[in-house]
Amino acid sequence: MKLKDPGLLRQSGLIDGIWRAGNANKRIEVIDPSDQTALGTVPDMDGADTKAAIAAAERTFVDWKKTTHGRRAELLAAWYNLVIENLDDLALILTSEQGKPLAEARDEIRYGASFIKWFSEEARRIGGMTIPSPTPDRRILVLKEPVGVCAIITPWNFPTAMITRKVAPALAAGCTVVIKPSDLTPYSALAIAVLAERAGIPKGVINVVTGMPQAIGEELISNPTVRKISFTGSTRIGSLLMRGAADSVKRLSLELGGNAPFIVFDDADIDLAIEGVIASKFRNGGQTCVCANRILVQDGIYDEFSAKLSERVVAMKVGPGLVQGIDIGPMINEAALAKINRHVSDALQKGAQLVAQAKTVAVGKQYAAPTVLGNVTVEMELAREETFGPIAPLFRFKTDEEALSIANGTPYGLAAYFYTQNLKRSWRIAETLEFGMVGLNTGSISTEVAPFGGVKQSGLGREGSQLGIEEYLEMKSFHIGGLGG
Ligand code: SIN
Repeated sequence: MKLKDPGLLRQSGLIDGIWRAGNANKRIEVIDPSDQTALGTVPDMDGADTKAAIAAAERTFVDWKKTTHGRRAELLAAWYNLVIENLDDLALILTSEQGKPLAEARDEIRYGASFIKWFSEEARRIGGMTIPSPTPDRRILVLKEPVGVCAIITPWNFPTAMITRKVAPALAAGCTVVIKPSDLTPYSALAIAVLAERAGIPKGVINVVTGMPQAIGEELISNPTVRKISFTGSTRIGSLLMRGAADSVKRLSLELGGNAPFIVFDDADIDLAIEGVIASKFRNGGQTCVCANRILVQDGIYDEFSAKLSERVVAMKVGPGLVQGIDIGPMINEAALAKINRHVSDALQKGAQLVAQAKTVAVGKQYAAPTVLGNVTVEMELAREETFGPIAPLFRFKTDEEALSIANGTPYGLAAYFYTQNLKRSWRIAETLEFGMVGLNTGSISTEVAPFGGVKQSGLGREGSQLGIEEYLEMKSFHIGGLGG
């Protein structure tokens, strides 16, 4: 990696402001998914390291929660500026370890930075309440206080933005954090931690523990000092965390799996819907929780939509993310590719039609060909589970009721999209979809200004927006008596 600032590439964890290389015999390799070469290593930290990080976060919490809101805002703003100044290097690190095309990595760094800026502004607006007292001699206030030490457990698909979306509101609220980044993409987390340190955020406020999930996760769950866990990842792990967190009654924010429907009605602007489906389905090679996973197209426009989408999909360029002009980078690992292949063969075996496929001309072993499948039905595996890859399955439907029944027929409820130009239909569909986020005539719903999160088995809580900081605040009612006379 040719970084302008090689100091951003750290191969150590960060505990209490000290970069720790850990045990030389216990390291894990970080692999470039574009060619499976090792980029370097990071320590495979364990329960004892995690305990030390939690203890550091607990010590630092005493002072950090007393730091004024204005000072926290300034420190976060300084961190934001450094992230933007180092955008080129951060994007290069991100693409190298995660695989997404460099232009998308740059978008992710801007998106990630937007949460730091937003919550630097929100830090100044943490208010409270006064409540009219039932008796004349008393006053009642509601104070908002930081939750305490927070565990931040993040995935590989957005290795920067998923950290900043959690850490920025936590710090703005006055919490301290222990971050456990994905073992597949630790370098992005470490690089932004370097910039937080340079911004002047005191040591011990942000700790980063690298390594495999089991030992670190067990300590984060069982340690009573950790008062909150914020996790983005699978529903399976989210529900395990929820069970584990019950013993010490920790607060939880969970952003879990999705199975997003993307519904195109007969009266839709088809070209707009094509742009939307490209943006939603193929962002990060289809590896996002809010990706269109089931594309439902009404009978009257199905053939036209399918033809137009196919034209775009066959033109997609697949290859290493650092190569100019690439649309789809490698998948994160072989297991991801195997799942995609399993979904495609299951669909074909059950009667789906291979409508279009981009050429991958032997780019390497972790690449998936962008594909359009037609005549997909709810009996197929890809209708029930996220494919997490560049596969666009088209379902044909006739009535609004049929579309809604397919769309809501999932235990997940993260994001849904639909395209229509009819006002009455817009409201009816938006209000009937059982999802935490709904896009009408748009395939992009991710922004720091709007609440992000799901219902049903897609999770708990909301990130971003003015609500995101509430996840890191407790309310204390303060009753003042003896004021009569
Ligand atoms: C995710 O895939 O978990 C996050 C995507 C986003 O923030 O847009």
